[in-house]
Amino acid sequence: MGQKIAVIGTGYVGLTTGACLSHLGHDVVCADVVPEKVDALNRGEIPILEAGLEELVNEGRQSGQLRFVLGAAGAVSDAEFIYLCVPTPQGDDGSADLSYIRDAAAEIGPHLRSESVVINKSTVPVGSTRVVEQSLGRSDVHVVSNPEFLREGSAVHDFLHPDRVVIGADDQSAAIRVAGLYLGLAAPLQVTDPASAETIKYASNAFLATKISFVNAIAAVCEAVGADVNDVVLGMGYDKRIGDAFLRPGPGFGGSCFPKDTHALVKIAEDAGYDFDLLKGVITVNDQQFARVAAKIETAAGGDLDGTVVAVWGLTFKARTDDLRDSPSLEIIGRLKAKGARIQAYDPAIHAGTTDPRLEGIEVCADPYAACQDAAVLAVLTEWDELKWLDFDKVGEVMAAKRVVDGRNLLERSPLTRRGFLVDGIGR
Ligand SMILES: NC(=O)c1ccc[n+]([C@@H]2O[C@H](COP(=O)([O-])OP(=O)(O)OC[C@H]3O[C@@H](n4cnc5c(N)ncnc54)[C@H](O)[C@@H]3O)[C@@H](O)[C@H]2O)c1
Repeated sequence: MGQKIAVIGTGYVGLTTGACLSHLGHDVVCADVVPEKVDALNRGEIPILEAGLEELVNEGRQSGQLRFVLGAAGAVSDAEFIYLCVPTPQGDDGSADLSYIRDAAAEIGPHLRSESVVINKSTVPVGSTRVVEQSLGRSDVHVVSNPEFLREGSAVHDFLHPDRVVIGADDQSAAIRVAGLYLGLAAPLQVTDPASAETIKYASNAFLATKISFVNAIAAVCEAVGADVNDVVLGMGYDKRIGDAFLRPGPGFGGSCFPKDTHALVKIAEDAGYDFDLLKGVITVNDQQFARVAAKIETAAGGDLDGTVVAVWGLTFKARTDDLRDSPSLEIIGRLKAKGARIQAYDPAIHAGTTDPRLEGIEVCADPYAACQDAAVLAVLTEWDELKWLDFDKVGEVMAAKRVVDGRNLLERSPLTRRGFLVDGIGR
């Protein structure tokens, strides 16, 4: 039977959670503090790019099982279960900033039904279940940790087909009630204590970030010894203990999770008396990777970026999302701009003329060829598939020089070299 659910925060995680839970048959009210966002959602307009999300939101709106309201307090009075999906950004000292969590919990506390369950889906450090309990100020309400592992770009698919569902609770009966919400999913269910659940999320993201920094470091070695990282990764991946997933060299990791979560785990460990040197190294390698890719672009442009036009394909932190948060592309562009480069960029998910402070000083073009006009070098920084199948004769005609730095090893080499392009990639 469907349950009454409130979801607090309608961002990438909250909106996906709300839409998927209503799809699974629950009765869901989603709340946000941004009036324009709530109005848009009530008109069926989806503020983010996420495959399949619009269909699910409209399905829920039409059946009446998915509604959107302004303010958390108005969403919870009827709910048996309340998901917290608010931001946990990086604080000044590297730790996760829990102020959104505290504020949301304090806001809903007085309005909750007795015996309801507050489910923390935001990524939060160990001990945050207690923080939520204290901010709620309600001894008759349960708090459970239920970290989210979805990937932007395939969020709906990941929510409905998760590799696992992790529930951290001190109270077994609350854990069983939360597990019941996911009955429609075919996924292993792990019930554990809150500290372990919270640690599983950080450890998973830190491990994935480690894989990226590892392969980027191997790519640097490949360049130095004349090996091809694509072949190296293929050969490594045949070993089942290693596998080939998430071992793609690139411009470094970014996005709204890995940078803040790796820093937060370093801080969690430090506060607990453990110096997490390995993870510090992962973060350092990532910073070096931004610098290495920026240096490749500078070299390909002839060594002097002052006043030089650099074409960039890809602004989002990865393909199939419109999310610019902590994008490696923007990180690298910042380094190029600091040396006087003029950036002309194209991204399939970012419209020309978009007013976003993060894009200040970047000319966002309507098509990939316009971005290449008079450019001394083209840098590919996001792995959008559609960038592979373009007219490279046309690209060559409009550029000032036929030079490409493929920061994702995305493009086929031979069609480019046949046309006289000089191509540099990562680790090959
Ligand atoms: N984005 C991801 O891929 C991802 C994946 C797994 C986990 N997470 C974690 O999930 C959490 C949310 O991430 P996100 O990317 O969805 O963030 P987001 O910034 O996209 O969305 C958060 C939303 O919460 C709203 N909000 C803030 N305070 C509120 C309040 N008091 N009441 C109602 N709404 C409020 C904001 O307006 C915003 O719409 C973070 O802890 C993040 O680390 C994110």
